[in-house]
Amino acid sequence: MSYQVILPAAGQGKRMGAGINKLFLELNNMPVLIHTLLVFDEDKDCDGMILAVNPEEQDQIKSLLDQYKINKQVIFAQGGAERQQSVYNGLKAVTNSGLVLVHDAARPFITKEMIKMLTEAAERDGAAIVAVPVKDTVKKVAGDHVVETIERSSLWAVQTPQAFRVSVLLEAHKKAEMEGFLGTDDASLVERIPHPVAVVPGDYNNIKLTTQEDLVFAEAILKTRTKLIEA
Ligand code: CTP
Ligand code: MG
Repeated sequence: MSYQVILPAAGQGKRMGAGINKLFLELNNMPVLIHTLLVFDEDKDCDGMILAVNPEEQDQIKSLLDQYKINKQVIFAQGGAERQQSVYNGLKAVTNSGLVLVHDAARPFITKEMIKMLTEAAERDGAAIVAVPVKDTVKKVAGDHVVETIERSSLWAVQTPQAFRVSVLLEAHKKAEMEGFLGTDDASLVERIPHPVAVVPGDYNNIKLTTQEDLVFAEAILKTRTKLIEA
């Protein structure tokens, strides 16, 4: 099913510590942002992209879109102080009435196959996310002591994209704004409508570039992919 995708891209990349928005950093001589956008540009189900950006970076991003020949429609929305506000601003620019995806611009390794599985689940259930089982044991800690160990078998690490019926995500964001709720992902706003959220198994390679060491993982993932293509 066709969809529009909102890509929050207005962060500052503080944890990356590069002194610039990490989306401008290059992997294989191409900015992270472009790696991400190309996946959607090449997906026949994608009707267009809505980029939530820092207004000061909009011109720079526009010239990258030209340089790397992004073909599909790109609508700009203003980034907010928090990721949630960036997404909400993007949501207000959605023109489709069917499905909307939200995907962190900082996750360049998403695949068309994963998007397909996700949109099928969202079409069926109204809301769906990709997630992977947590590999480490997770403990709750207060100060410098353990409070408890959380049963691992039910823990999943959540990624993006997340897909929603437009009406569902709009209701969720409106409610969150009215009640002053700030979540770290969009599904958490949908959960508190309440509305069920389906989980589609994701891929451990679909990492978010957050800190410096993620750049090393990213180079390794790209190398493996190039080898697969060559084989
Ligand atoms: N983002 C956004 N608006 C914000 C904050 C984040 O659009 N106010 C975007 C980022 O550009 C990124 C995605 O949301 O694509 C996920 O956020 P995160 O990984 O936290 O990126 P940054 O906020 O840039 O990094 P940091 O938190 O380390 O500063
Ligand atoms: Mg952030």
